[in-house]
Amino acid sequence: MSTRVDWISHPAGPLRGDVVVPGDKSISHRAIMLAALAEGISHVSGFLEGEDTRATAAIFRAMGVAIETPSASQRIVHGVGLRGLAEPGAALDCGNSGTGMRLLAGLLAGQRFDSTLIGDESLTRRPMFRVTGPLSAMGARIESGEGGRPPLHIRCASGLWGIRYTPPVASAQVKSAILLAGLYADGDTEVHEPHPTRDYTERMLAAFGWPIAFEPGRARLSGGHHLRATDVVVPADFSSAAFFIVAATLVPDSRLLLRAVGLNPRRTGLLAALRLMGADIREHDAREQGGERVADLEVRHARLRGIEVPVEVVPDMIDEFPILFVAAAAAQGTTTVRGAAELRVKESDRIAVMAKGLIELGVRVEETPDGAVIHGGRLRGGVVDSAGDHRCAMSFAVAGLIAHDAVRIADCANVATSFPGFVEITQSAGFLLNAVAPD
Ligand code: S3P
Repeated sequence: MSTRVDWISHPAGPLRGDVVVPGDKSISHRAIMLAALAEGISHVSGFLEGEDTRATAAIFRAMGVAIETPSASQRIVHGVGLRGLAEPGAALDCGNSGTGMRLLAGLLAGQRFDSTLIGDESLTRRPMFRVTGPLSAMGARIESGEGGRPPLHIRCASGLWGIRYTPPVASAQVKSAILLAGLYADGDTEVHEPHPTRDYTERMLAAFGWPIAFEPGRARLSGGHHLRATDVVVPADFSSAAFFIVAATLVPDSRLLLRAVGLNPRRTGLLAALRLMGADIREHDAREQGGERVADLEVRHARLRGIEVPVEVVPDMIDEFPILFVAAAAAQGTTTVRGAAELRVKESDRIAVMAKGLIELGVRVEETPDGAVIHGGRLRGGVVDSAGDHRCAMSFAVAGLIAHDAVRIADCANVATSFPGFVEITQSAGFLLNAVAPD
């Protein structure tokens, strides 16, 4: 685990310049997983050098997959084929990563060896029944810790069979776990989602040559095929760009250009919400990169007004609520978020952590079980706690830009899970953000 670090974010601006954020976390995890199980050598470029995605790479190394790092953000993966993983000698540590653990649970359920998945304190609190339940219905043998939480002990199963499953909550992690187990199952595996979620697993399976039928909200595949090595180009992570999109919107006279940002429609709900609030975000040079739509985003300062966030857009911005809360705190009027109870089981309870921090900064926020009501106004300085949640830490750093005085943010080391180099990149764009030792 990283050593503890606090940040101090000072009022600053205007923000100017070109920003390139690191590679997409979701795609980086999946690229390593599928390349490891493919036949042949795959090159992954734009790989996120974050703690979460490196933990996934280390797990495959521990199962005998050779993964070279010719340079930063590049990986060469020597695939071992669907049945080529070796039994690991120790528990596999997913660190802070829910994506790592849930997808691996599906993939390991089909192996002919036992394995154990563990994680850090935050991950050990997160619900896993949402994957172990349907995987058990496919024939997997998984024992979990108290309350269905990690560690997960995955026993060698005598065989898996396909299922047709509708997850009770919209979750790309659950869908992906089932589809990955489906690679090892007899017959068809089908997932029908209550709301379409990010489709990276489906797209990447197709790119690696696995026959799969999918459309928004539905995916179906059968076991018994092969994955063929292919090269993966990982676009910049929209969720990392989101902090700069909101920062440039909030700070007067700002203009930032965010280069080659991944714009998968299941990820960009924040753009819809911010545009409803009055943001000025323009897309330039929209193009395809590695099968994903990317564009350069030009963001200029704009005054925001409060909105009711449309519930149908919630799954498409599920990782962006911490930063949306900051935008809402600075907007004129009231913003209401509903239908987002999932936020309570992310890396932290994001509704509680953001509400507490913003209240500390003088904002009126009322929590509800599945969202919050945020009354926009002026932010004052103060001390807030990110609760070790990377996205809350980065959101409070943006709040510090527009607060009346400096904002001190406790417990920021986990930003390295998804956004290595955040402090340096923000500084180059005009933030006055510094890392300091905790008191
Ligand atoms: C992810 C899916 C989402 C998201 C997470 C990454 C993925 O989680 O919040 O950051 O890579 O599949 P859920 O599936 O729990 O909604």
